[in-house]
Formats: sequence, C-alpha cells, structure tokens
Amino acid sequence: MCGIVAYVGSKEAYPIIIEGLKRLEYRGYDSAGVSILNGTMNTFKCKGKVTDLEQVIVKEKIKGTAGMGHTRWATHGVPNNINAHPHLSGDGNLAIVHNGIIENYGTLRTALEKLGHSFVSDTDTEVLIHLIEEIRNTNDLSLEEATRRALQKVVGAYAIVVLDANDPDKIVGAKKSSPLVFGLGDGEYFLASDASPIVKYTDKVIYLEDEEVITIHRNGDYEIRTIENELTDPEVQQIDLNIEELEKGGYEHYMLKEIYQQPQTIAESMRGRLSADEGWAKLGGMEQHLTRFKNAKRIILTACGTSWHAAMIAEYLFEEFARIPTEVEYASEFRYRNPIITPDDVIIALSQSGETADTLAAVKLAKSKGAFIYGIVNNVGSTIPRTTDSGSYIHAGPEIGVASTKAFTSQLTVLTLMAIILGHLKGKISEGYYRQLLSELESVPSLVAKILAKADQIKYIAGEIRNTSNALYLGRGYNFPVALEGALKLKEISYIHAEGYPAAEMKHGPIALIDMYMPVVVIATNKSAHEKIVSNIQEVKARKGIVVAIVTEGDTRIKEMADFTIEIPYIEEPLSPLLSVIPLQLLSYYIAVMRGCNVDQPRNLAKSVTVE
Ligand code: F6R
Repeated sequence: MCGIVAYVGSKEAYPIIIEGLKRLEYRGYDSAGVSILNGTMNTFKCKGKVTDLEQVIVKEKIKGTAGMGHTRWATHGVPNNINAHPHLSGDGNLAIVHNGIIENYGTLRTALEKLGHSFVSDTDTEVLIHLIEEIRNTNDLSLEEATRRALQKVVGAYAIVVLDANDPDKIVGAKKSSPLVFGLGDGEYFLASDASPIVKYTDKVIYLEDEEVITIHRNGDYEIRTIENELTDPEVQQIDLNIEELEKGGYEHYMLKEIYQQPQTIAESMRGRLSADEGWAKLGGMEQHLTRFKNAKRIILTACGTSWHAAMIAEYLFEEFARIPTEVEYASEFRYRNPIITPDDVIIALSQSGETADTLAAVKLAKSKGAFIYGIVNNVGSTIPRTTDSGSYIHAGPEIGVASTKAFTSQLTVLTLMAIILGHLKGKISEGYYRQLLSELESVPSLVAKILAKADQIKYIAGEIRNTSNALYLGRGYNFPVALEGALKLKEISYIHAEGYPAAEMKHGPIALIDMYMPVVVIATNKSAHEKIVSNIQEVKARKGIVVAIVTEGDTRIKEMADFTIEIPYIEEPLSPLLSVIPLQLLSYYIAVMRGCNVDQPRNLAKSVTVE
C-alpha cells in the first residue's frame, strides 16, 4: 500500500506534497516523510500520521520547488522513524519513496554489503536506493538510466520516485504492480499513487504501465521508457474527478459521508443502464460480449474482503436468475492453486480500488489461461480495468473511509443488473418478473434514504451494545453474505471480535458462545425461510443472547422476540442485501465512534492493499 506524491514546478513543493499526502493517507498511515530539494536533500520523516510529520518539519529547510512525500503502511520493518520513507543512498544524495515489496531484497542487500554498503533501516526500499547508487556510480550513469538498470534486478512490486540532490530539476519514477500516475499541469508536474493529490492542479494524466520508468524535467519535457529501454508513446487522459468529492462535506467522517451518499451512488451506478418503464437494461461492457455471457458454462467471481462478499451475493443472483453455475473465489486462494479454467468460463473480478494485488494477480493468472475477464471496479483508470477484457465501472465516486460501504452497494447494484440482464437474455426469467425486478432496482435509492432516516434508532442500539467484546451476525440465503459483511464492518472499525454465520449453522458450533452478554445480529428480512429464522432467534433467546433483528416493515412476530429491531422496507428477496446492509453499516459506525476508534483510519489497515 503506501501513498506517494512528488512535485516539480514553480511553486513551493512542500505544501502541495503535504496536502497530497493527506489525501493519500487512506493508503497507509503508520509513518510519513518528505524530501525537498533545494541544493541539498532535506528529508524529514517520523512514525505516525502526516499531522505528526508536520510537527517535526524545520520550516526553513523545506523551501524548494521539487520534492516528494510518502505515507506508509509497513511491510518490511516496524513503523518507526528510521523505517519511514524517504530512504537515502549511502552518500545521502539520492532519495527514494516506494510503494510495494522488493522480494529479493535480502540477496541484493547481502551483495551490496559485500561491496561496502551499510544500511540503517530494516526496509527493502533502502536496499533499492543503494542499488541505484551503486549502479550509477560504477557506470557513471544518469539517475534514470541507473534506476532502469537497477529495476531489472528487482523481483517484486514497486511504485517509486527517486530524487537526486545534485539535480533539482528532475524527478524519476517507475512502477510495477503498484500504481503511479503522472499529472501534467501548467508548468508543474506530479507523480502520485492516484489522481487525488493532482486533481486540484490538472485533469491531464498518464497512467504508467508496469515496468515503465518516467523522467520528468522541470521544463515539462518528459520521457517514458520500459525497463528494457524501449521508448513508449503514452496516451494523455483527461480525468473526471472534482475536489469536493475528496472532502468530508460537513460530515464528521468520510465513512459517514459515504454511507449517506448511497441513495445517490446507487442511482449513479444504474444511470443510463436501465429503464423499467421501457423494459430495457444494458451494461456497455457486456454489450459486445453477450454471446460469451449467454454461452458461459460457468461464472467465476474473484475478489477480496468486502468485494468478495458482494461476489458471494452475485453467486446467488447469477444462479437464480440466469441459471449459470457460479463460483466465488478469494483472489488470494485462486491464484495459489491450479484452478481449472476453460474458454467457456467468464471470470468476473471485483475491486473498489482496482489495485488489490491478489485480485490483480488472479486476473493475470486467468488471463494467462485464456479466460475472458470482466472487471467491476470503482476507481477509474486503475490497474484492474486496464488489465481485464471488458467491464463496468460502478461510479460510486472516491471512497476514502477505509471500511468499504458505498462501493459495496454499487457493486451489488451492477451485479444485480448483470444477473437480471443475463436471466432475461437466456429466457430464464419471465418478461413480467424482468420488469418487476428493474422497477424494484430503480426504487432502491429512495428505500435506502428511508433506512438512513432511522439513524437515531440505530445509534441508540449501538449505545446499548457498544461495550461487548464479541458479536455474532446471522443470515440466510441472500442475507448470509450480508451477515459476513456486517461482522467485517464491526471488527475492522471497532475492534470487536465479530463472526458472520449462515443462521442455520449456528447450532453446529457458535451457539456455544451465546450467553447474556452476546449480541446476535440477525438479518431476518427473508420471506422464504422466515419460519426457520424465527426458530433461530428463539434458539438465541433461549440462551439469553441479545437479539438485534433487521426485519421487514410490519414483521411483528420477530419484533416481539428480539431485544431490538430495525425495520426496513420490503423488496424482492434477491435485492434485499442492498437494503439490509445499510443498518449494519450504521451500527458499526456508531459503535466504533462511541468506542473512540478512528473509523476512517482503523489500526493496521489500509484502503488499497497492493501487497500480496
Ligand atoms: C473492508 C474493505 C476491504 C476491501 C478489500 C478489497 O471494508 O474495505 O476488505 O474490500 O481490501 O479491496 P478492493 O475492493 O479495493 O479490491
């Protein structure tokens, strides 16, 4: 993970870099640092957040119009002042920031030590800057040439920026498997992990490809070469991202803003893609490949974390509507076994960030086996959509809170639409049901708004169970993955241990945990198996568990049994996860806030998991 930003231009670099780092902090926040060029390499770094870094800066020393910064999510070496980036070469003239992992750093370090290099940190990154220094000094090369040659020796993932104290008019960057974007402003130039630090200054960017090295000169000349030294001819793209989307907009946390944005973001993910009145639905990315989808013998969905939960719901949807056998795979597992993939399979990769290393690796593996790969991604221009054969953006806008909320519901919206389109295309759902589903899908944004209006009630329940150490989440059918998602949201932001289970599985083990201190959140909106859920709730109550039930409006039966109920509007069961997840997001949010947790930047986590 880690966030990188670099600048060369006519303005003071430091404020631009610090502001950029704050935007990139979602990528990692255990330490931060900057290097500013002004005749010498002025480097400041420390353990902690970007605001901690601001406290250790010596103002007079950070004047300069070229520099770079880094916010870290530790891989090699604990988060401390020494392991924080930038790292320096032995002579102190070169500095590097890095996002990724140099897998062969041990071998490189030993070889460099034999040549007389000594290291101050435990990081793989410091080894890389010494390697660049060694190659440069031995062969009397330019910075970019030495960087290019050094990267040929590297195994692993990297997005890097390298500066030379003796050349304040140049920045060099490179990437492989971790993202790096080049921003072309008016007399000023940027490199960053994503476009968020850049949009304030320019909408013109180039997304670097793997194994490319860019050299940017202060006068605006730039050159991109592969690490094999071939000159490339990259396309300058225009990005459509405005600065307000990156602000909290009056909310206390990004997570709360993103939860509340869902009526709009769900509507955005459907915009121009369906009309229930006119009876049509289409996804641009599917249009050219309808035959392939129609004839698919199997769909394999692959993802991580919350995206994996959305994929699990899609398994139910694709099988129910389109009758296509569907499997769901953790991307990290998929790639490390030898999966059987045939040309008749359709692989769907899901990712909010579009950068998750395991998902990307799964895509590459499937591609190498000749599969057709469809990406469902939020982050426009990220690596996964550039690697897949086709796909759909979910258009949820930037998701900055580390816990995914609006991206989940937008992923679900697109997946539901895909399943409906496929069911209709294959003649597996009637015209009447097709239109009904489209109409219900169109009503989701207003139903979500109705649930959000119950925030105070949800906050009250949060206050009642906030001191628990454990929680159980139960759901059946479509709501089983929602139970997993509810549990994940709670554990990641409040640090309460939480487990999601299929409701009926409770009696095969987890029931042993239930006592008067155990909150059990039951997603009980299903029309099918309602009786069974009622029985599961009775089993919990018989053991004195505290039941928080998410029920359909008017369900008085469960209301009488549960300790707390949250009513949500009725919707066709396959669409119900789009509603039932909303109270769970709010419940986790309020519990975490009441426990004093940093909900936007939970400990040990990062938004974009670009390491395997
Ligand atoms: C949980 C969460 C993570 C991500 C996971 C995959 O709230 O955000 O579990 O869902 O890291 O990330 P993407 O979707 O970016 O591939």
